Amino acid sequence: MQPDVEPPPAALRRPLRILHFSDIHLKLNLFHMPLHKWFGKRSIGAVNLMSGRGRRFDEAEEKVAALAGFARRQEVDLVICTGDYTALGLEHELERARRVVAPLMRAPSGFVTVPGNHDIYVTDVVRQRRFLRHFADVLVSDLPDLCSDGPWPLVRLIGDRLAVVAVNSARPNPRPWRSNGRIPEAQLQALERILADRRLDGRFVFVITHYAPLLRDGRPDTPLHGMVNGDEFLAACHGLKRGAILCGHVHRRYHVAVDGVAGGLYCAGTATMAGREGFWLFELDHQGGLRALPGEWDGEGYRVLDPQPAAAGA
Ligand SMILES: [Fe+2]
Ligand SMILES: [Fe+2]
Repeated sequence: MQPDVEPPPAALRRPLRILHFSDIHLKLNLFHMPLHKWFGKRSIGAVNLMSGRGRRFDEAEEKVAALAGFARRQEVDLVICTGDYTALGLEHELERARRVVAPLMRAPSGFVTVPGNHDIYVTDVVRQRRFLRHFADVLVSDLPDLCSDGPWPLVRLIGDRLAVVAVNSARPNPRPWRSNGRIPEAQLQALERILADRRLDGRFVFVITHYAPLLRDGRPDTPLHGMVNGDEFLAACHGLKRGAILCGHVHRRYHVAVDGVAGGLYCAGTATMAGREGFWLFELDHQGGLRALPGEWDGEGYRVLDPQPAAAGA
C-alpha cells in the first residue's frame, strides 16, 4: 500500500504568473510645474499633454488601481514594468508614480522595473537621481557583482525557475525632435556576462528594457524614436534558448519573433492610453514552458484574451 503523500500546496503546483505592463504615463498636473521649467524640451512635452494625445491618459491613475486589483485576483507572483510612468519626470510626478504603483509592488515575488525616457526627460532628472531615489528599494540586484552602470544591469532571481535581467536604455533627450534610446556599452558587455553566468543555469530569463529593438513587423524603429543600438542589444541576447525580451515605449502591444531568442520580443504597449490599453500576463510552468496571454481593458476592467501560441523553445 502506498503511504499517504500530502499533495503540494496549490501555489507550488501552478505556473508562475508574471504581469508585464508599461507606459502608464500618469497625467501631469501642469499647475505643479514650476515657471522656470516652462522652457526647452519640457514646454514641448507640456503642450503635448494638453493636446489630444495627453488627454488619452486622463484616467491613467484609476486604471492603474484597476490593474492592481486584476493582478491580485489573478494571483500574479511577479510584476514587471518597462517604464514611462510619467510625462516629464518632475519630482512630484515620480513621487506620485511611486505611490500609485505601490499596490502592484506588493506581488509576492516583487516588482522589477526600468525607467522610460519620460521618467528621465531632461538632464537634471539624472543629475538629481530622481528615478533612482524614488524606486531605490526595487532597484537592488541579486547579483550586484555584475552591475556595471549604477544598479544596471539589475538581476532578480525568482525561486529556482526564473531570472529577470533589467538593462536601462532610457536617457535624457534635450532636443525636442528626438526621443531615442541607447544601452550603454558597459551594460551590453555586462549583459553578455550575465547571460553566460552559471547562476542563471536552468532558469527561464526575461531581459527587460524600455526601448523596443524591433517593431511588430520585425524591423527597427526610426532612428529618432527607437533604440539606436538595437542590433548590438539583440546580438548580446542572441543564443537565449529559454527566454524572451520584454519592452515598452511603442504604445501598442505586440509579439515578434527574434532570431536567436527563443521566446522572441514582447512589447506591452501602454496599459492606460484610452483605446489602446494592453499588457501581457505570462505563465511559466515547471518545465520552463511559457504561455503568453494578451490583456486588454474592456471599459470596466482588465481581462485576458486567448493565449498566444507557445513560444518556440520557450
Ligand atoms: Fe511611452
Ligand atoms: Fe518611451
